This record gives sequence, C-alpha cells and structure tokens, in this order.
Amino acid sequence: MLFGKKQSLVGLDIGSHSVKVVELEVQSNKTYRLINWGISQPLAEAIVDGEIMDRQLVTDAITNLLESRGIKSRNVVAAVSGRAVIVKKITMNKLSADDAQQAIYWEAEQHVPYDINDVSLDFEILGAAPNDPKQMQVLLVAAKKDMVMSFSDLIREAGLQPSIVDVDSFAAQNAIEANYDFAPEEVVAILNVGSEMTNINIIQGGVPYFTKDLQVGGNTFVESIQRKFNLSQSEAAAAVRGESGPGLEVAPVIEQACEGIATALERAQAYLRTAGEAGSISRIMICGGSALTPGVPEFLNRRFSVPTEIVNPLQRVQYDPSLFAGQDVMKVAPLLTVGVGLALRRQGDKK
Ligand SMILES: Nc1ncnc2c1ncn2[C@@H]1O[C@H](COP(=O)(O)OP(=O)(O)OP(=O)(O)O)[C@@H](O)[C@H]1O
Ligand SMILES: [Mg+2]
Repeated sequence: MLFGKKQSLVGLDIGSHSVKVVELEVQSNKTYRLINWGISQPLAEAIVDGEIMDRQLVTDAITNLLESRGIKSRNVVAAVSGRAVIVKKITMNKLSADDAQQAIYWEAEQHVPYDINDVSLDFEILGAAPNDPKQMQVLLVAAKKDMVMSFSDLIREAGLQPSIVDVDSFAAQNAIEANYDFAPEEVVAILNVGSEMTNINIIQGGVPYFTKDLQVGGNTFVESIQRKFNLSQSEAAAAVRGESGPGLEVAPVIEQACEGIATALERAQAYLRTAGEAGSISRIMICGGSALTPGVPEFLNRRFSVPTEIVNPLQRVQYDPSLFAGQDVMKVAPLLTVGVGLALRRQGDKK
C-alpha cells in the first residue's frame, strides 16, 4: 500500500438477476466507509440454474457497471455459485490443527461425491461435537476446480483480477456479523432471498451450523403470480414489487411460494435440536432483493414467532448520503449484503 493511500476493497456479487458491486475503504480506526456501489441492469437469462449461458452479456454487465460507477480498482473479491460448492459438516476424532489437515483430506474423500483431485478443499474446525467431547466438528467446503476456474476466467474476461474466497451464504453471514451483535446463545437464521435462489445459513456464536440452497426466490414469486392471475411477466413482476393496483390478492400467492423456505427452516431446526447442536431459531435476518417483497418478512415472522428483520449491511458502514441520491437506502442495501460481505474479506483471507 502506498503511504497515505487508503486501501479500497471491491466485492463483486454476480447474481442471476443482476451484478452488484460494493467498494469499501478501511478507515484508520478499523471502521469502513462505503466509497461506491452499483447494481447492473437485469441480466435476463444470462445465468440460469447457476450456470452462465451468455458469458458476453455477463462480462459486459460487469464492465459497464464498474465504468458507470467510476470504480478503478481492478482487484475484486467474488463468490462462486452454490452449484460449484459442497458445504458439509462432518464429525471426526479430535486432532490438533496440525494433524487435522491430512486427516480431514482423508475424511473429505468419503464425504465429497467428486474425485478429490477435482475439488479445492477448505475447512474450518468448529469445535467439540456436542454429544461427544472426543470428537470434533469440521466444516468442509469443497469447490469444483473446473467451475471455479471458469468463473475466475469470466471475471478476467471483464478485465479484472479476481480472488474467489467465498460462497454467497458465508459472505452474507460476514456482512451481517460486521453490522449486528448477537448474544452467544442466539440462533440466527440468515436467509439470502435472491432471484433464483434462497441461501439458508443458520448460525450460532459465529459458527454456521446449517447451510442449504433452495430453488426459491423472486422468480418463483413472479411465476406463481403470472400463473394465478394470468398476467404478463412484467405485470407479475410489478405485483411482486407491490406496485399493482388494488384488487389483486397477491399476498396468499407469495406466502404459498414461501412455504418451501419455511418448511426447510423447520426441518433444519428439528435436525439441529435432535443432534443437540443448536437450540431453536431465535431470530431471522433476511437479505437479497426478494427480502423486499411485501409480505415475506411478515410471513416468516408469523410462522416462527421470532423477531424477523430485513438486513441493513451498511448499518455500521459510513458513507456520504449523496451516494444514494435521495433513494431510500433500505430499498437498496439488502441487495448489497453479499457484496459488502465480499468486500470485507481481505484478499487471500479465507473463511
Ligand atoms: N423492491 C423490491 N421489491 C420486491 N422485489 C424486489 C425488489 N427489488 C428487487 N426485487 C427482486 O429481487 C430479486 C433480485 O434479488 P438479488 O439481486 O438478491 O438476486 P440475485 O443475486 O441477482 O439472484 P440469485 O442470488 O438468486 O442468483 C429479483 O427477483 C427482483 O425482482
Ligand atoms: Mg444473489
């Protein structure tokens, strides 16, 4: 770092609906300042099921976004799509961190359904197993090398230098932990409700106890409303944003579409309780664009009877209000959660 030049960190979140960019600067007192942010035009069908169908469209969206926001930094931190990654929690005999590495690789071979040479493996020792102090729990993160490579190539094609450090749900956790304080016993369900996907991550004391990706999101809401009321796609999308005229009963349709999320949370909660790993969910934090869909937080709040809130990943981040040009920050910030979490990761940092 040059003397006097502050380090800027750029998080790039390539979603199926849009690309989000967040540029943060570390202040001298270890706080962060938002320097810039941006959301691209909708990517249409360029990314489907986590697979990039139209590379040119995505690289153009990235290039245009950075250019239009005047972001000069070429080094970006990105996350791979959930499809390229397997996250698994395993229990094994307790070992020192030094001895663990080899043993964990061996264990991983039994748990990862790919050739171990085809994945990059990362792990975090979570601590003692709840039911057996001689055992420890380890979080395995296995990313398919070819998918990670193809994804980094895409970012390079946009003229950037990527470091790939994360998956969406950990980036969201990272952003939330930097902005909220949780009591050690609090069990927090983080939901990143995007367009094609919802990432669930249930944490306690900073440890991710349960992660899962569901194929539910804004697209599901739009499609359900389209079918139910026989609307065009753009009419249905307006209804999901709460912009349709009176007389359209969209709430029950959205709730029905959210049922999958609620069921997955209930199952996760039952599993964690039975395994003695974590108590009941005591708080729900929702981020991603579809957190803004009217009725979604209310539905989950009613269903789980715990405080449910929309995440503000800029709560403890300083910024010049003119960056939002009169826009309501809370109509934008939830979409930037993964981007903030990525920017907060220093390059080379690992979960
Ligand atoms: N104000 C709003 N009200 C309702 N829905 C909104 C609003 N703003 C954005 N959305 C919806 O949020 C979704 C986009 O969210 P997000 O940017 O988090 O998704 P993504 O990261 O591109 O997709 P994914 O993570 O699923 O690949 C779209 O379905 C969009 O319609
Ligand atoms: Mg997303």
